[in-house]
This record gives sequence, structure tokens and C-alpha cells, in this order.
Amino acid sequence: MIGLSLLLILCKFFLGWGLEILFPKEKSIFEEEFVSVVIKVDPKKIKELSLKANGSEIPLKLEERDTYCKTVKIKPGENLIEVRAVDGKGKVRVKTVRIFMVSQVFPEGNVPPKDFKVFRFHTSRNESLCAKCHKLNGEQETCKSCHPKLIERKFQHPPAVLGCTLCHTGGKDSKYAWAEPISETCYLCHGDRKETWLKKKYIHGPPSTGRCNICHNPHSSEHRFFLRKQILDLCTTCHSEKRVEKHPLSGFVFGSAHPISGKPDPARPGRELTCTGCHNPHASNYRFFFQNDYSGEAILCLRCHKK
Ligand code: HEC
Ligand code: HEC
Ligand code: HEC
Ligand code: HEC
Ligand code: HEC
Ligand code: HEC
Ligand code: HEC
Ligand code: HEC
Repeated sequence: MIGLSLLLILCKFFLGWGLEILFPKEKSIFEEEFVSVVIKVDPKKIKELSLKANGSEIPLKLEERDTYCKTVKIKPGENLIEVRAVDGKGKVRVKTVRIFMVSQVFPEGNVPPKDFKVFRFHTSRNESLCAKCHKLNGEQETCKSCHPKLIERKFQHPPAVLGCTLCHTGGKDSKYAWAEPISETCYLCHGDRKETWLKKKYIHGPPSTGRCNICHNPHSSEHRFFLRKQILDLCTTCHSEKRVEKHPLSGFVFGSAHPISGKPDPARPGRELTCTGCHNPHASNYRFFFQNDYSGEAILCLRCHKK
């Protein structure tokens, strides 16, 4: 079996005139916005090499080797990776792969096409293709050599910096799989939240699924609390009608709308007013998930309007 698939790979390689995209695989699904592209070339044939992700060029320097690796940034939804090579006779070869980034908080990433599949890299067989040049002994430093960008965004989640395997404990299809539901892993360190939230009368739909990573990036983010989007954008992805200026409390506030941003939040020094000034994103004892477990008309308002 192994002999046969090796033969197939070799055939594909030579039929591709010395150019092959080893990873990512065609029609694979990812959840992070960074993906490793690994290109195999025949250095004797190829004289020029270039890489594009969704049309934008990513510089590659041709050297004396047969494997080129690059981390590329992808966007929610479908992405096109394109590799172009020119051989000694000036002939152009092009290889492409299409991949999909899923996300519940970007409409274009909600539903992958039916024939796309989740891909798992960390099997002994895949790793053996890299062992010539990369250390694969599972130490923290080695993770960064292939996944540098995951912890380079502005706000870094401490465990991702300290030890990837705190969450990636491994499973049957990957050495570094993570346990589901992911909330149980989150609660190993954030157990105090589990205590409070699960005692509340109402739990918000998305966190109740156990997929905390719908809204939080487990590794790092450009936004505070490692959110995948700024709060107002995050909430209005699913509650799009709340984008319009009317909410909240139109009618309450003399026919015009109550501000939802652009003003300081009187109850949270240093923070701007946003949806979470009034609504708890996780759980509450009141049905609209009000922050102070609002139980009567004026209580929520008193959080910010003391008089
Ligand atoms: C030789 C490069 C390389 C090294 C070293 C490496 N990875 Fe990966 N890893 C990959 C590639 C390629 C993928 C596929 C996803 C991608 O393109 O980013 C991947 C995917 C993953 C995934 C998703 C599950 C899977 O198996 O596809 C996890 C989790 C992961 N790596 C964790 C780690 C951790 C933890 C370490 C360090 C102990 C590590 N990786 C070291 C290349 C590497
Ligand atoms: C012939 C040697 C060689 C092989 C084989 C090889 N790599 Fe690399 N890889 C490198 C070198 C050298 C770098 C350092 C970055 C650079 O200058 O291109 C690198 C860097 C990387 C990076 C980081 C790229 C970035 O943008 O920071 C990833 C991811 C990676 N390799 C994945 C892999 C995977 C996965 C495999 C196996 C399928 C693999 N490599 C096989 C030589 C190799
Ligand atoms: C706090 C827990 C946690 C830590 C720590 C963590 N991860 Fe993850 N990781 C996850 C979860 C949950 C996912 C599931 C997909 C997602 O939300 O991105 C994931 C997914 C991944 C993926 C696959 C992304 C994809 O596109 O499908 C890679 C690669 C990965 N992690 C690498 C790492 C590396 C490398 C580190 C250390 C630098 C690390 N992780 C640390 C929880 C964690
Ligand atoms: C191995 C321990 C560990 C695990 C597992 C873990 N975290 Fe954390 N997390 C921390 C530490 C340490 C901090 C920084 C201290 C703090 O703010 O609580 C932090 C901070 C946070 C913060 C910011 C808190 C704030 O007030 O600024 C969020 C949000 C968060 N984690 C979410 C998650 C999610 C979601 C998961 C599961 C995918 C998770 N964590 C899993 C250790 C962990
Ligand atoms: C609907 C999106 C969403 C989901 C799903 C979600 N969170 Fe959050 N989380 C947020 C937002 C928004 C904030 C920032 C709250 C604020 O502005 O005070 C936050 C803040 C946090 C904080 C820091 C502040 C606090 O309230 O303690 C932690 C820790 C946290 N989340 C953990 C989790 C865990 C664990 C899960 C899974 C059980 C989860 N989150 C699921 C949106 C979400
Ligand atoms: C991934 C989609 C998603 C995101 C993101 C999201 N929500 Fe929700 N939200 C839901 C769903 C589904 C429900 C209905 C189930 C329920 O009541 O929990 C809901 C219900 C609610 C309700 C109660 C509505 C009612 O009529 O009772 C409020 C209030 C709310 N969300 C506020 C927020 C806020 C604030 C944020 C941002 C922190 C947010 N949501 C982010 C999906 C989402
Ligand atoms: C100043 C406080 C406040 C802010 C800020 C706020 N809300 Fe509300 N929200 C309320 C109140 C009060 C209600 C209940 C209105 C009622 O009684 O019908 C409500 C109701 C809701 C409901 C459920 C009822 C409905 O109309 O569907 C959703 C969903 C919701 N808000 C989402 C959001 C989102 C998303 C944001 C940010 C864009 C936000 N809210 C900002 C106070 C606020
Ligand atoms: C999270 C904090 C917060 C909550 C809760 C809140 N508000 Fe406000 N409200 C504000 C901020 C900030 C402003 C803008 C003040 C300014 O323009 O300087 C505002 C403005 C107003 C105004 C316009 C008049 C003025 O003072 O500028 C009215 C009326 C109002 N709110 C009524 C309410 C009512 C009624 C509730 C309860 C249903 C409520 N608010 C809940 C923060 C809040």
C-alpha cells in the first residue's frame, strides 16, 4: 500500500513537471487565518517560482533546495492558493489549491461547500515529509517554527505562548488534536466562570454549544479578550438588525435611539459603551442576558444612570 501511494505521488510529481503543492490539500477546511503552504520543486528544472494567495503575491526566494514553505493569511470563505513556476526553457507551470476557512461569525465562512473536508496534518506519515529539515519532537519551540503567526497578533492568550499542548493533548486523527467540547478545556483554567455561568437561568445560544471559539480565538487576536471581531461587529453578525440605529430602547428614549458606541461606558471605567455594557455575552438571570441580572424596569438603567 505504502509503495503504491509513494509511486502515485512520484508520478504526480513528474507529470507536474517538477512542481507540486504538498500542503494544503485541495478542498481542505481550516479554522485559523494562517495556513502553511509547502511546495515541492525539482531544483534542476525550475528557474523561477512565485506564490499567490487570493491574487496577492507572496515573495519567495529561489535557493538550492527542493522544498519551499510559507505561512499565508487566508480569509473566511473560499481561498485560492496559486503557485507558478518557470522552467529553463521558459515554460510556465501553474498549480492551484482551493481551501475554505470556516467561521460562525463571518457569513461568508458559515457553510463550507459539501465536498470540502477538515484536514489533519499531524500524523507520522505527513510529518515524515518534513523531518529532513524540521525538528518534530513535540517541544514548544518547534511549534513556533511552523506556526509562528498564531501567537503574533496583538493580544496573546497566555497558554498559547506557554504550551500549545495544554489544549492540544492529541487524539486519534492527529497528535495535536483538541478535546471537544472545547469549553471543558477552557474551564480547566477558567473554572470560576463555569461556576457562575452554569448557575444562571439563561445561557446565551453560542456559548451553550460548548464552542467558546465561535467568538474567542484560542491563540491570539487583534481584539481584546481574544475576540474574533470587535464586540459591536461580533454581536451584529448574528443580530444584524441591531446594527441599525434604532436599537436599543427606541421609544424608551423619546423616540430616538440610545447610543450603543462612541461614548464612555459610565459603569466600566476605561471602556467604550458597547453591546456588553448592557448584555452579558455568556449568561444571565434575565432573559435578555442583562449585565446586572436586571429584574425590573429601571435596574439596568441605574447601572449607568445613577440619578
Ligand atoms: C514541520 C512543520 C510543523 C511543525 C514543527 C508543527 N506543525 Fe502543527 N501543523 C503543520 C501543518 C502544515 C499543519 C496543517 C495546518 C496548517 O497549514 O497550518 C499543522 C496543523 C496543526 C494542528 C491542527 C491539527 C492537525 O493535525 O492538522 C495543530 C493543533 C498543530 N499543528 C499543533 C502543533 C503543535 C502543538 C506543534 C509543536 C509541538 C506543531 N504543530 C508543530 C506543521 C507543523
Ligand atoms: C528542504 C528543507 C525543508 C523541508 C523538507 C521542509 N521545510 Fe519547512 N522550512 C524550511 C526552511 C529553511 C524554513 C525557514 C523559512 C524560510 O526561510 O523559508 C522553513 C519554514 C517552514 C514554515 C514557516 C514558514 C513561514 O512563513 O514562517 C513552515 C510552516 C514549514 N516550513 C512547514 C513545513 C512542512 C509542513 C514541511 C513538510 C511537509 C516542511 N516544511 C518541509 C525547509 C524545509
Ligand atoms: C487555550 C487552548 C489552546 C491553546 C493553548 C492552543 N490552541 Fe490551537 N486550537 C485550539 C482550539 C480550540 C482550536 C480549534 C479551532 C480554532 O478555533 O481555531 C485550535 C486549532 C489549532 C490549529 C488548527 C487551525 C485550523 O486552521 O484548523 C492549529 C494549527 C493550532 N491550533 C496550533 C496551535 C499552536 C501551534 C499552539 C501553540 C502556539 C496552540 N495551537 C495553542 C485551542 C488551543
Ligand atoms: C492552561 C490554562 C488556560 C486554558 C486551558 C485556557 N485559558 Fe484563557 N487564560 C488563561 C490565563 C492564564 C489568562 C490570563 C489571566 C486571566 O485574565 O484570567 C487567560 C485569559 C483569557 C481571557 C481574557 C480574560 C480577561 O479578563 O482579559 C479569555 C477571554 C480567555 N482566557 C478565554 C479562554 C478560552 C475561550 C479558552 C478555551 C478555548 C481558554 N481561555 C483556555 C489560561 C487558560
Ligand atoms: C457570543 C460570543 C461568545 C462566546 C461563544 C463566548 N464568549 Fe467569552 N466573551 C465574549 C465577549 C464579547 C467578551 C467580552 C465581555 C465584555 O465586554 O466584558 C467575553 C469575555 C470572556 C472572558 C473574560 C471576561 C469574563 O466575562 O470573564 C472569559 C474568561 C471568556 N469570555 C470565556 C469564555 C468561555 C470559557 C466561553 C465558552 C464557554 C466563551 N467565553 C464563549 C463573547 C463570547
Ligand atoms: C454566532 C451567532 C451569535 C453571536 C455572535 C451572538 N449571538 Fe446573541 N444569540 C444568538 C442566538 C442563536 C440566540 C437565540 C438563542 C438564545 O436566546 O440564546 C441569541 C440570543 C441573544 C439575545 C436574547 C434575544 C431574545 O430575544 O431573547 C440577546 C440579548 C443576545 N443574543 C445578545 C448578543 C450579544 C450582546 C452578542 C455579542 C456579545 C451576541 N448576542 C452575539 C446568536 C449569536
Ligand atoms: C444601553 C443598554 C443596551 C445596549 C448598549 C444594547 N442593548 Fe440590546 N437591549 C437592551 C434592552 C433594555 C433590551 C430589551 C428591550 C425590550 O424590552 O424589548 C434589549 C434587547 C436586545 C435583544 C433582544 C430583543 C430584540 O429586540 O431582539 C437583542 C438581541 C439585543 N438587545 C442585542 C443587542 C446588541 C447586538 C447590541 C449592540 C449592538 C445591544 N443589544 C446593545 C439594552 C441594550
Ligand atoms: C452601560 C451603560 C448604560 C446603560 C445600562 C444605560 N445607558 Fe442610557 N446612556 C448611556 C450613555 C453612555 C449615554 C450617553 C451619554 C452622553 O451622551 O454623554 C446614555 C444616554 C441616555 C439617554 C439620553 C439622555 C442623556 O442622559 O444623555 C437616555 C434618555 C438614556 N440613556 C436612557 C437609558 C435608559 C432608559 C436605560 C435603561 C433601559 C439606559 N439608558 C441604560 C449609558 C447607559
